Amino acid sequence: MYLKLSAIFLLIFAGWLQQGANSKANFDMIFTNCTCRREDAQGMLSHLKCGLSKSVRRPSFNIELMFREPVVRFQVNMRIVLPRSRGEDFTLFNLTGIDGCSLLSNKNQIAFIQLGRERMDRFSNVPKRCPWPKDVLYYVRGFRSDMQSMPAFNFEADMNLWFDFLSNGNKLIHGFIQSRVQRRRSSKKDTTDD
Ligand SMILES: *[C@@H]1O[C@H](CO)[C@@H](O)[C@H](O)[C@H]1NC(C)=O
Ligand SMILES: *[C@@H]1O[C@H](CO)[C@@H](O)[C@H](O)[C@H]1NC(C)=O
Repeated sequence: MYLKLSAIFLLIFAGWLQQGANSKANFDMIFTNCTCRREDAQGMLSHLKCGLSKSVRRPSFNIELMFREPVVRFQVNMRIVLPRSRGEDFTLFNLTGIDGCSLLSNKNQIAFIQLGRERMDRFSNVPKRCPWPKDVLYYVRGFRSDMQSMPAFNFEADMNLWFDFLSNGNKLIHGFIQSRVQRRRSSKKDTTDD
Protein backbone atom coordinates (compact mmCIF):
# COMPACT_ATOMS: atom_id res chain seq x y z
CA MET A 1 0.00 0.00 0.00
CA TYR A 2 2.76 2.39 1.01
CA LEU A 3 4.56 1.50 -2.19
CA LYS A 4 1.60 2.21 -4.40
CA LEU A 5 1.06 5.53 -2.69
CA SER A 6 4.68 6.49 -3.24
CA ALA A 7 4.45 5.63 -6.91
CA ILE A 8 1.27 7.61 -7.36
CA PHE A 9 2.73 10.51 -5.46
CA LEU A 10 5.77 10.52 -7.72
CA LEU A 11 3.66 10.39 -10.86
CA ILE A 12 1.57 13.33 -9.75
CA PHE A 13 4.72 15.16 -8.79
CA ALA A 14 6.20 14.37 -12.21
CA GLY A 15 3.20 15.74 -14.03
CA TRP A 16 3.17 18.86 -11.96
CA LEU A 17 6.84 19.54 -12.50
CA GLN A 18 6.64 19.05 -16.25
CA GLN A 19 5.34 22.57 -16.32
CA GLY A 20 8.57 23.81 -14.83
CA ALA A 21 10.79 21.52 -16.90
CA ASN A 22 13.10 24.26 -18.10
CA SER A 23 14.62 24.81 -14.71
CA LYS A 24 15.60 21.16 -14.34
CA ALA A 25 18.47 21.45 -16.77
CA ASN A 26 20.15 23.58 -14.14
CA PHE A 27 20.64 20.67 -11.76
CA ASP A 28 23.28 17.96 -11.67
CA MET A 29 23.44 14.85 -9.59
CA ILE A 30 26.91 14.12 -8.32
CA PHE A 31 28.02 11.11 -6.28
CA THR A 32 29.96 11.64 -3.08
CA ASN A 33 30.36 8.17 -1.64
CA CYS A 34 30.06 4.58 -2.82
CA THR A 35 31.10 1.77 -0.53
CA CYS A 36 30.31 -1.93 -0.36
CA ARG A 37 30.80 -4.61 2.22
CA ARG A 38 30.95 -8.33 1.56
CA GLU A 39 28.61 -10.42 3.63
CA ASP A 40 29.31 -13.49 1.62
CA ALA A 41 29.40 -16.42 4.01
CA GLN A 42 29.26 -18.94 1.16
CA GLY A 43 32.11 -17.39 -0.82
CA MET A 44 30.02 -16.81 -3.93
CA LEU A 45 31.72 -13.55 -4.91
CA SER A 46 35.13 -13.69 -6.52
CA HIS A 47 35.38 -9.92 -6.94
CA LEU A 48 33.73 -6.85 -5.45
CA LYS A 49 34.82 -3.26 -5.78
CA CYS A 50 32.88 -0.07 -5.19
CA GLY A 51 34.15 3.47 -5.41
CA LEU A 52 33.93 6.89 -6.94
CA SER A 53 35.18 7.79 -10.39
CA LYS A 54 37.80 10.45 -10.78
CA SER A 55 35.79 12.97 -12.77
CA VAL A 56 36.17 16.29 -11.00
CA ARG A 57 33.39 18.03 -12.83
CA ARG A 58 30.75 15.40 -12.22
CA PRO A 59 31.87 12.64 -9.85
CA SER A 60 30.16 9.33 -10.44
CA PHE A 61 30.33 5.86 -8.94
CA ASN A 62 31.67 2.49 -10.06
CA ILE A 63 30.67 -0.98 -8.96
CA GLU A 64 32.37 -4.18 -10.15
CA LEU A 65 31.45 -7.70 -9.22
CA MET A 66 32.07 -11.27 -10.30
CA PHE A 67 30.62 -14.56 -9.11
CA ARG A 68 32.04 -18.04 -8.64
CA GLU A 69 28.65 -19.59 -9.35
CA PRO A 70 25.93 -18.60 -11.80
CA VAL A 71 23.34 -16.28 -10.25
CA VAL A 72 20.05 -18.06 -10.82
CA ARG A 73 17.80 -15.96 -8.61
CA PHE A 74 18.56 -12.83 -6.67
CA GLN A 75 16.82 -10.26 -4.52
CA VAL A 76 17.51 -6.61 -3.84
CA ASN A 77 16.72 -4.49 -0.80
CA MET A 78 16.81 -0.78 -1.37
CA ARG A 79 16.30 2.17 0.91
CA ILE A 80 16.48 5.79 -0.24
CA VAL A 81 16.57 8.49 2.39
CA LEU A 82 16.69 12.23 1.93
CA PRO A 83 18.49 13.59 4.98
CA ARG A 84 17.19 16.84 6.38
CA SER A 85 19.14 19.25 8.46
CA ARG A 86 16.12 19.90 10.61
CA GLY A 87 13.54 17.34 11.62
CA GLU A 88 13.39 13.71 10.64
CA ASP A 89 14.99 12.37 7.50
CA PHE A 90 12.55 11.58 4.74
CA THR A 91 12.43 7.93 3.63
CA LEU A 92 11.46 7.91 -0.01
CA PHE A 93 11.61 4.12 -0.33
CA ASN A 94 12.31 1.19 1.91
CA LEU A 95 11.83 -1.89 -0.19
CA THR A 96 12.86 -5.38 0.76
CA GLY A 97 12.91 -8.55 -1.27
CA ILE A 98 12.59 -7.01 -4.73
CA ASP A 99 12.83 -9.92 -7.14
CA GLY A 100 15.95 -9.23 -9.18
CA CYS A 101 15.15 -11.40 -12.18
CA SER A 102 11.79 -9.78 -12.84
CA LEU A 103 13.42 -6.39 -12.29
CA LEU A 104 15.86 -7.18 -15.10
CA SER A 105 13.16 -8.26 -17.48
CA ASN A 106 11.31 -5.06 -16.67
CA LYS A 107 8.32 -6.73 -15.08
CA ASN A 108 8.70 -4.57 -12.02
CA GLN A 109 5.80 -2.18 -11.76
CA ILE A 110 7.36 0.51 -9.63
CA ALA A 111 7.85 3.47 -11.94
CA PHE A 112 10.73 4.99 -10.06
CA ILE A 113 12.74 1.77 -10.00
CA GLN A 114 12.03 1.11 -13.68
CA LEU A 115 13.46 4.52 -14.48
CA GLY A 116 16.67 3.75 -12.66
CA ARG A 117 16.93 0.32 -14.18
CA GLU A 118 16.48 1.57 -17.76
CA ARG A 119 19.00 4.28 -17.15
CA MET A 120 21.42 1.70 -15.79
CA ASP A 121 21.52 -0.14 -19.14
CA ARG A 122 23.58 2.66 -20.60
CA PHE A 123 26.29 2.40 -17.98
CA SER A 124 26.33 -1.26 -17.12
CA ASN A 125 26.77 -4.71 -18.65
CA VAL A 126 24.40 -6.33 -16.18
CA PRO A 127 22.51 -9.07 -18.04
CA LYS A 128 18.93 -8.49 -19.14
CA ARG A 129 17.79 -11.80 -17.72
CA CYS A 130 18.70 -14.54 -15.28
CA PRO A 131 20.81 -16.56 -14.86
CA TRP A 132 23.95 -14.46 -14.80
CA PRO A 133 26.91 -16.53 -16.02
CA LYS A 134 29.74 -16.97 -13.51
CA ASP A 135 33.28 -15.61 -13.96
CA VAL A 136 32.14 -12.52 -15.88
CA LEU A 137 33.10 -9.08 -14.61
CA TYR A 138 29.87 -7.12 -14.22
CA TYR A 139 30.11 -3.40 -13.79
CA VAL A 140 28.30 -0.10 -13.45
CA ARG A 141 30.61 2.70 -14.54
CA GLY A 142 30.23 6.44 -14.71
CA PHE A 143 26.52 6.36 -13.97
CA ARG A 144 24.84 9.71 -14.61
CA SER A 145 21.32 10.49 -13.62
CA ASP A 146 18.92 11.87 -16.13
CA MET A 147 17.72 14.92 -14.31
CA GLN A 148 14.96 15.43 -16.86
CA SER A 149 13.32 12.26 -15.62
CA MET A 150 13.99 12.79 -11.93
CA PRO A 151 11.05 14.92 -10.93
CA ALA A 152 11.48 14.29 -7.25
CA PHE A 153 14.79 16.12 -7.12
CA ASN A 154 14.19 19.48 -8.64
CA PHE A 155 15.96 21.15 -5.74
CA GLU A 156 19.29 20.89 -3.97
CA ALA A 157 19.26 17.79 -1.80
CA ASP A 158 21.39 14.97 -0.52
CA MET A 159 20.27 11.43 -1.17
CA ASN A 160 21.45 8.31 0.62
CA LEU A 161 20.83 4.93 -0.92
CA TRP A 162 21.48 1.66 0.89
CA PHE A 163 21.18 -1.62 -0.93
CA ASP A 164 21.62 -5.30 -0.28
CA PHE A 165 22.19 -7.95 -2.90
CA LEU A 166 20.97 -11.39 -1.95
CA SER A 167 21.30 -14.63 -3.86
CA ASN A 168 18.89 -17.39 -2.89
CA GLY A 169 18.12 -15.52 0.29
CA ASN A 170 21.78 -15.20 1.34
CA LYS A 171 23.04 -11.65 1.65
CA LEU A 172 26.19 -11.18 -0.43
CA ILE A 173 26.65 -7.43 -0.54
CA HIS A 174 25.68 -4.46 1.58
CA GLY A 175 26.26 -1.18 -0.22
CA PHE A 176 25.90 2.53 0.26
CA ILE A 177 25.70 5.24 -2.40
CA GLN A 178 25.55 8.89 -1.46
CA SER A 179 24.66 11.58 -3.94
CA ARG A 180 23.83 15.22 -4.05
CA VAL A 181 21.60 17.14 -6.38
CA GLN A 182 23.06 20.56 -6.82
CA ARG A 183 22.48 23.60 -8.91
CA ARG A 184 24.86 23.66 -11.82
CA ARG A 185 27.81 25.85 -10.95
CA SER A 186 28.81 26.81 -14.47
CA SER A 187 26.65 29.34 -16.26
CA LYS A 188 27.75 27.98 -19.63
CA LYS A 189 25.04 25.98 -21.31
CA ASP A 190 25.83 22.27 -21.37
CA THR A 191 24.25 20.92 -24.52
CA THR A 192 25.61 17.41 -24.04
CA ASP A 193 23.66 16.85 -20.86
CA ASP A 194 21.64 13.67 -20.93
C1 LIG B 1 31.45 6.65 2.95
O1 LIG B 1 30.45 5.91 3.62
C2 LIG B 1 30.96 4.92 4.49
C3 LIG B 1 29.78 4.10 4.99
O2 LIG B 1 28.81 4.91 5.58
C4 LIG B 1 31.75 5.58 5.61
O3 LIG B 1 32.27 4.61 6.47
C5 LIG B 1 32.88 6.42 5.00
O4 LIG B 1 33.54 7.13 6.00
C6 LIG B 1 32.32 7.38 3.96
N1 LIG B 1 33.43 8.02 3.26
C7 LIG B 1 33.47 9.32 3.04
C8 LIG B 1 34.65 9.82 2.30
O5 LIG B 1 32.60 10.09 3.43
C1 LIG C 1 12.96 -0.90 6.29
O1 LIG C 1 12.08 -2.00 6.15
C2 LIG C 1 12.48 -3.15 6.87
C3 LIG C 1 11.56 -4.29 6.51
O2 LIG C 1 10.23 -3.87 6.44
C4 LIG C 1 12.48 -2.84 8.37
O3 LIG C 1 12.89 -3.95 9.09
C5 LIG C 1 13.43 -1.68 8.62
O4 LIG C 1 13.39 -1.31 9.97
C6 LIG C 1 13.08 -0.49 7.75
N1 LIG C 1 14.13 0.52 7.92
C7 LIG C 1 13.88 1.82 8.02
C8 LIG C 1 15.05 2.69 8.28
O5 LIG C 1 12.75 2.28 7.92
